[in-house]
Amino acid sequence: MTHTPSYWAVVPAAGVGKRMQADRPKQYLELVGKTVLEHTLSRLLQTKVFSAVSVAISVEDPYWPELAVSKNECVLTAPGGKERADSVLSALQAISGRASEQDWVLVHDAARPCITAADIRLLIDSLQDDEVGGILALSSHDTLKSVEGGSIVGTLDRAHIWRALTPQMFRYGRLKQALEASVGNPAVTDEASALELFGMRPKIVEGRPDNIKITRPEDLPLAQFYLEQQQ
Ligand code: CTP
Ligand code: MG
Repeated sequence: MTHTPSYWAVVPAAGVGKRMQADRPKQYLELVGKTVLEHTLSRLLQTKVFSAVSVAISVEDPYWPELAVSKNECVLTAPGGKERADSVLSALQAISGRASEQDWVLVHDAARPCITAADIRLLIDSLQDDEVGGILALSSHDTLKSVEGGSIVGTLDRAHIWRALTPQMFRYGRLKQALEASVGNPAVTDEASALELFGMRPKIVEGRPDNIKITRPEDLPLAQFYLEQQQ
């Protein structure tokens, strides 16, 4: 029996934003009239693609219940974990009764509010017939150096180097299995790396450069500029 897969979104939003050095986690900083997290969730919800958006939130988070979107019927709240991968796994567990093994999950960082509907559509259209799935990624415009002790020891072949963005799109069953198997592994910094450890070869889909992750203070005005440009 063939079954048309459903799509689910998972949003890890349980980080503390240490590098941002703000008075609150960066997903709650305000940007063009809304918090970063509200922008991110509204971009995902606007696509109307997802059966639900499962959001991982720190159990001590006082900000989340104050946002109207936390009560949206398409939004589920899961407890955040120690590392990003733990938060993603928790958000996957929150849909375990509803998602099928072959369903698609798009994992998207809360800290990437400039994601466009066009890039979400491109990722889905590019990968929906793929066995494994894949990620949005960017090629590097700069020449890349391999460095040891402050000195250059080689130049990397740029054709083989891509920067991993989100969303990352994988099958529910396989993603959950891969993340469960890699709990505590510091090398697993995104979903693709968990599947790579299982010998799989996720695809890359070239995304837009404005899909930045807000990480440091200087990223905030840049994200504001992109959001205003996109409106
Ligand atoms: N994240 C999470 N659970 C964690 C750590 C991170 O859900 N235990 C989320 C963050 O909220 C963010 C995304 O994963 O949306 C990407 O992580 P990152 O940019 O590293 O955010 P923080 O961990 O919050 O920032 P920092 O590393 O500077 O502390
Ligand atoms: Mg972090």
